Amino acid sequence: LARGDLAQDLAGRHVVVSAGGTREPLDPVRFLGNRSSGKQGYALARSAAARGARVTLVAANAALPDPAGVDVVPVGTAVQLREAVLKAAADADAVVMAAAVADFRPETYAAGKIKKKDGQEPAPITLVRNPDILAEIAGERARPGQVIVGFAAETDDVLANGRAKLERKGCDLLVVNEVGERKTFGSEENEAVVLGADGSETPVPYGPKEALADTVWDLVAARLS
Ligand code: CTP
Ligand code: CA
Repeated sequence: LARGDLAQDLAGRHVVVSAGGTREPLDPVRFLGNRSSGKQGYALARSAAARGARVTLVAANAALPDPAGVDVVPVGTAVQLREAVLKAAADADAVVMAAAVADFRPETYAAGKIKKKDGQEPAPITLVRNPDILAEIAGERARPGQVIVGFAAETDDVLANGRAKLERKGCDLLVVNEVGERKTFGSEENEAVVLGADGSETPVPYGPKEALADTVWDLVAARLS
């Protein structure tokens, strides 16, 4: 189907997508970050808008153009992403957590630039846990019937790890990618299996991130109706 022919099966729906990767600052010039480009989340936002949804895109540090007709909320850290997602999720029909959220952040933020001193060993960086946003929104739904989708990049026993994570998070769908050579980070393509809490498994062959986005919304739409 060409994009313009897509059914307006998300018309009247509000969906929230998080995208990109959080950055956890150490001082005004440095942060702990990750390699997420934001491309998959932006593809999800464009696809949902094309299918008629009102879309809130919570964008963490993605250097990508704002998709047309999408409400973009820029954020930096995991704590900021949590605030923005919880706020937007309050009246949402579905939330898709495509963002790479840092599991940890530095315990302290230095208001001034951290300086080195001759003859002095560098100070260790102490980390603390960030909130688990997906587990929080899935565990306590803002609305009955709200559909919650997570993403997971796994290695080794990808499906078993994904199934365990789906249960731990309590979400309805988990998109599981195998990470490795040429796969996922920064690329235009993706390959995944979408696991459902109902036991379903939907393989998505290697292809454009748009195709994976459309499959995710197919599965979400089926659960909304
Ligand atoms: N996620 C989240 N909040 C966090 C960490 C992750 O909402 N603090 C979300 C991600 O957006 C993603 C899903 O949870 O949709 C899975 O992320 P992942 O890093 O695979 O899960 P973790 O529970 O952090 O497991 P791991 O120890 O494997 O990193
Ligand atoms: Ca993690």
